[in-house]
Amino acid sequence: MADQANGHPPRSTNTIPLPTPPKKQHSLATLAVHADDPLNSTTDVAPALHVSTTFRYPFDPSLLIPKDDLDIPKRGPRDPADSHVYSRLTAPNTTRLELMLGEILGAPCLSYASGLAAFHALLVWLNPKVVAIGAGYHGCHGVLKIYQKLTGCKIVDLFDETSWEDKDGGWSLGKGDVVHIETPVNPTGRAYNIAHFAELAHKRGAVLTVDATFGPPPLQDPFKQGADYVMHSGTKYFGGHSDMLCGVIAIGTGRDGWEKDYWGMYGERVTLGSVMGSLEGWLGVRSLRTLELRVGRQSENATRIVEWLDGQLGPGETLGGEVAVVKQVVEKIEHASLQKEDMGWLRKQMPGGYGPVFSIWMKTAELAKRFPSKLELFHHATSLGGVESLIEWRRMSDNTVEETVLRVSVGIENWEDLKEDLLQAFRALAQESEAK
Ligand SMILES: Cc1ncc(COP(=O)(O)O)c(C=O)c1O
Repeated sequence: MADQANGHPPRSTNTIPLPTPPKKQHSLATLAVHADDPLNSTTDVAPALHVSTTFRYPFDPSLLIPKDDLDIPKRGPRDPADSHVYSRLTAPNTTRLELMLGEILGAPCLSYASGLAAFHALLVWLNPKVVAIGAGYHGCHGVLKIYQKLTGCKIVDLFDETSWEDKDGGWSLGKGDVVHIETPVNPTGRAYNIAHFAELAHKRGAVLTVDATFGPPPLQDPFKQGADYVMHSGTKYFGGHSDMLCGVIAIGTGRDGWEKDYWGMYGERVTLGSVMGSLEGWLGVRSLRTLELRVGRQSENATRIVEWLDGQLGPGETLGGEVAVVKQVVEKIEHASLQKEDMGWLRKQMPGGYGPVFSIWMKTAELAKRFPSKLELFHHATSLGGVESLIEWRRMSDNTVEETVLRVSVGIENWEDLKEDLLQAFRALAQESEAK
């Protein structure tokens, strides 16, 4: 591989980030292990962690071509691992992660320091005058408010199309604007119909952005339902081990101008500096290798637990004493698998299974506050998507939800162990209430 002239590997002239469509139609499980093989320029099987922020230029003066930081097409994510210049532009570990994500999500991807940094970058790039947004992670609403402070954009209700235009005809959601949905949604795990909102956005010339954090591959592919851009908090399922912050924007290639989008967002990231760290890039690659195994198991576990809980809350006298216990403390649960009336579109939208997060409404706020302390296997903590099951009395971090809500992020443990843990905790809480 070494370039004879300067002892360095050759510098690539590759300009396009990712093949479209992918060169080989491998399955997700295979892509997760091999999508980054083109970057194997050393003999390491396990990729090295590169910590350098700066990279040597060629020795040979004739190869020194003056250029600007933003003269980017000469430094694409598919370039050899050591064609980097400065890690705010590109760096070996994040480049490797982006290459894998691109193949896995089927669209060129840019990584960011966090999910919220990714959402901010998307708004800054698209620069909409009107944004329709509904339920969803309160942090994204916070980012939009900051964007509104700088631009004066209109924020309208996703679920009320009549709010998408000014009554006096002064403005309306249209070309260049954004319809943003989150599905499945935080914190409940409820799913929304991507194709429906894609149609509403596109008929007005607007774009549909989808926060698919709660439904990573292999569960759904929002591009198939008409999404133009897909974002993820990679902190959740891509990281998968509760040890890295990451945001991802995947740029759909179905629209003309996607390359301009990719390089435009790349350039703005260089300037805004919202890049992910090298350690996170390294952790992300290691984590993606098991994405399909983890998410498949988590989705299955969650769906089984939800089915069990739903059965306990249904009509009926007793089921080995469990009905009384669960019904005594739980008001209701919510999860996409329970949206029976939506199965027509939902099965198509989530062919790989439902999300691993669901919510429980307890009968009182006090019960919700006390429940996590009765559990042995679920950590009481915010966030989600890791291999370990978490539960959160959601009021601890989100003041937009009812005080009775518990958010459950199901991990990869044995689902029956998790079920037993929930049951013993419901029982302990019920007994405590009776004793009072
Ligand atoms: C749906 C959703 N989007 C975005 C984010 C923000 O991600 P991050 O914490 O990586 O900034 C979160 C965080 O919980 C989330 O749940």
